[in-house]
Amino acid sequence: MLSSKQLNIGPAHDDEEIAAFYEEQFNLPRSQEHRGRKPKNLEQKREKIRSEVADLADDAGLSAGFNITYKPTRFEAEWLLTSLSHFFEQDLIVDVTARVQGGKEANVYRCQAHHSLGTALVAAKVYRPRKFRNLRNDAMYREGRQILTEENGKPADPRDDRIVRAIGKKSAFGVQVQHTSWLMYEFKTLETLYRLGAAVPDPISAAENAILMGYVGDEYLAAPTLQETTLSPREAKPLFDEAMRNVELMMAQGIIHGDLSAYNILYWEGKITLIDFPQVTQAQTNRNAFKILRRDIQRLCDYFAGYGIRADAQALAEEFWQGYAAPDPDDLAADLSVMEAQRAEREEQ
Ligand SMILES: Nc1ncnc2c1ncn2[C@@H]1O[C@H](COP(=O)(O)OP(=O)(O)OP(=O)(O)O)[C@@H](O)[C@H]1O
Ligand SMILES: [Mg+2]
Repeated sequence: MLSSKQLNIGPAHDDEEIAAFYEEQFNLPRSQEHRGRKPKNLEQKREKIRSEVADLADDAGLSAGFNITYKPTRFEAEWLLTSLSHFFEQDLIVDVTARVQGGKEANVYRCQAHHSLGTALVAAKVYRPRKFRNLRNDAMYREGRQILTEENGKPADPRDDRIVRAIGKKSAFGVQVQHTSWLMYEFKTLETLYRLGAAVPDPISAAENAILMGYVGDEYLAAPTLQETTLSPREAKPLFDEAMRNVELMMAQGIIHGDLSAYNILYWEGKITLIDFPQVTQAQTNRNAFKILRRDIQRLCDYFAGYGIRADAQALAEEFWQGYAAPDPDDLAADLSVMEAQRAEREEQ
């Protein structure tokens, strides 16, 4: 199997040049640290790197032994095939047929499933190489979240100094741990919600840099988002109710989507599917949880208001919060009486 080492384009080019090159290829905004520090002969250097990377990417595609229908750009090839190799090796997919969409953080591809999966098509969400992702400000969401590891999404041991120090120092290993944790949150959340009957894609498998899930759409067209769809007046209310059923179902598990809007809900044959969960937030441990919940609900209310649905986002958020996240007054009273008893006991001694 090809390794990223094989594809290392060598010490002749420093990180900054490579980053600049990729940023241009993926059409990403230049990151702050690279701005204003363009070496004079960058264009020449880029040209050289461009052809070297392309050659290596071509070799990578060949040596990986995958013959896929979708023709990635030369620059996408290495990233795509490395990320999906696990799914090929595990006999989960046999082909990549199209790129459905390129998002800010990931590209989603339509793949032909291995016959053993019992479905024709699946979707592979391939996260951008961490360096070239347009990272959202994830600190707000990360609060109160454990680090999930590659090992089937198991939480890292908080006493594991290596992980704690690496993340603190933002070393390459630390950044990779964060990156995998981000992806694992998406996968684990899909697993929980799918099992409970939420309208989310069926999670199939997770690898270091990609997740494989149920595909919404057909062989020609992936499902559009609600934002790209015009609903009939009759379906708006039931779909709003369905969206709220899902928000409530998540709250019942103590989780909040965190980036819910008409852009992250797919529409296909009268049904909706919620997607894009890496920033999922824990209601109990994140101080911003209520704010994040209210924002999610507000965005949905705003969208459906366009179809004449009148709903009070604040009231809905409070209802869900009271129902599932606010501490139970009986529990508080019980805690207080335990503390009282302990205090009395101490005083007696
Ligand atoms: N299971 C799926 N089936 C079909 N299409 C999908 C599926 N999952 C995602 N997509 C498509 O890929 C797009 C990007 O997916 P997603 O929102 O999860 O990634 P993202 O990188 O966070 O995107 P963005 O930055 O645009 O929010 C979606 O808008 C949708 O068009
Ligand atoms: Mg999205």
